Amino acid sequence: MCGIAGYVGPRNSVEVVFDQLKRLEYRGYDSAGIAYLNGQDIKVLKRAGKLSVLGALLEEAPPESHLAIAHSRWATHGPPTDINAHPHFDQFEQISIIHNGIIENYLDLKEELVRDGHVFHSETDTEVAAHVIGQEYARGVPLEEAVRVGVKRLRGAYALVVISKNEREKIVATRNASPLVIGLGEAENYLASDIPALLPYTRQVVVLEEDLIAVLTQDGIRIFDGQGNDQSIEPIHIEWDIAAAQKGGYEHFMLKEIHEQPEVIAQCLAGRIDEKQRIRFEQIFSEHVWHEVDRVNIIACGTAYHAGLMGKYLFEKLLRLPTDVFHSSEFRYGDPVLSPKSLAIFISQSGETADSLAALRVCKERRIRTLGIVNVIGSSIARECDRTIFTQAGPEISVASTKAYVAQVLVLTMLALSVAQVKEMPGVRVTECVHALRSLRERAQEALTLEPQVIELAKQFFDAPLFFFLGRGVDAHVALEAALKMKEIAYIPTQESPAGEMKHGPLALVEPGVVAVFGAAEASVREKLVSNIREVQARGGTVLAVTTRDDAIVPQATDACLAVPGTGFEVLDALLTVIPLQLLAYHVARLKGCDIDMPRNLAKSVTVE
Ligand code: F6R
Repeated sequence: MCGIAGYVGPRNSVEVVFDQLKRLEYRGYDSAGIAYLNGQDIKVLKRAGKLSVLGALLEEAPPESHLAIAHSRWATHGPPTDINAHPHFDQFEQISIIHNGIIENYLDLKEELVRDGHVFHSETDTEVAAHVIGQEYARGVPLEEAVRVGVKRLRGAYALVVISKNEREKIVATRNASPLVIGLGEAENYLASDIPALLPYTRQVVVLEEDLIAVLTQDGIRIFDGQGNDQSIEPIHIEWDIAAAQKGGYEHFMLKEIHEQPEVIAQCLAGRIDEKQRIRFEQIFSEHVWHEVDRVNIIACGTAYHAGLMGKYLFEKLLRLPTDVFHSSEFRYGDPVLSPKSLAIFISQSGETADSLAALRVCKERRIRTLGIVNVIGSSIARECDRTIFTQAGPEISVASTKAYVAQVLVLTMLALSVAQVKEMPGVRVTECVHALRSLRERAQEALTLEPQVIELAKQFFDAPLFFFLGRGVDAHVALEAALKMKEIAYIPTQESPAGEMKHGPLALVEPGVVAVFGAAEASVREKLVSNIREVQARGGTVLAVTTRDDAIVPQATDACLAVPGTGFEVLDALLTVIPLQLLAYHVARLKGCDIDMPRNLAKSVTVE
């Protein structure tokens, strides 16, 4: 997500941290800033836009300092503006903070602090964290103690870096579910969110473990836990070159992004489920609107369209709300019939897809309510929709979308549950589903452990002439997404359809060598699915099933099976089955030697018609 840099030592620290930020540019960002010690004060320079804008500011009056921290921000709370850019000060301007991640309880903390007279300048959760730690610091304790005590009040995912104008020799850092690495030098030390920012300076690295606090000075580092107990420091030597380091050691961005999905789930849920298990979105229609909406139209392209199909499944199953899903390119020229009380939902990772934007403008002209589900803050779709929910998946670099899809389906799930809460829908097991959402991150982590099995299957299947992707109910929607991944990165033709449709035509394509992948998360139709599996096997096709671990029916009938942990909710189970299917496409493509992150003929953001 965002980038963090820090340096203390004899060099010009501002130059060093600016260079570190440049090495994190590939991750995407929308504003950047630096804090450095200047005379008796901390000086902060920050700007929205590219690093070159901040760079021009530094060139005007090149600052010199032995200690600096820097940040490149990818907006989550508040748009990308100069004011929302990091670093942020505390109430008393004694300390300055940069932060990656999301503070879930920042609104509650902010209310409390405002009651105590605190004044905030930005819309960010980070400034709230600065004030919380600043409050502790004002009691006269050392900076690391203020951080140790202050972070106990923060809930969420964070990597936090703090400096003080009174303790001019140290940088203090801590983290929870958001990475931080320390680079060790000779009489100098470095800090970064990612290893590529350290490699030009040092290959001796300490990975800061969760919930530990680090104090960096020119002469050394100290690491201790939340109780103040010192921890041993075990540096590792990094052999990776810069390109490998940018991918976090993974061979491709796509693989990195697949593996980031447990983290993305945590980020997407962060701050959206309160103690009473109620779903809360920051920017959403008031409750009466949900009573008024008589129809939902979901409009999107490609993978986002597939997420939309999951939305239809949810809205109709949980809310009994009629829902249609349109390809944006069809919607914009299709003269759709739109009820004035309907809601149009636009799903887009980039927020810039030309067809989706044009379809949105059609709805605006027709005065239909619009809601965006978008990943990139400040993007056109996010700006033009009446309301927007951000997926909080972080920048997606691989052309083939993976983590954005998971986050889109999660937002749709939370949205359906929140409407069920508002409308007090009888029979919807909201609380149980919220519990399942809370444990989804761990379940996704378990699903990733199927990778060695997937690699073996990829070796068996990589030269198949044709893949079928099939399923019933919610699995039919996942089948479309799994097929898209296989075609776009492995260039293998696919045939995807509801399993029951096979005998109406596609079955003619089955012959020895063809692989049919059946999704079986939808427990109520597993016996029917077995009949479809038999139809494929009888014609010489090989069958792989992706199902949940408790499925006693489908695995009996198939040639191979991948089982993900169950959640008790079919949509979430189906969402987990997408993880081994993404991995299957990836490993098949890898064995075929395809250009995985940049597949032929495709672009990441489709801004042309
Ligand atoms: C497939 C993929 C595309 C996008 C589509 C929409 O892996 O990435 O199908 O999903 O181009 O893009 P966004 O979501 O940016 O509107």
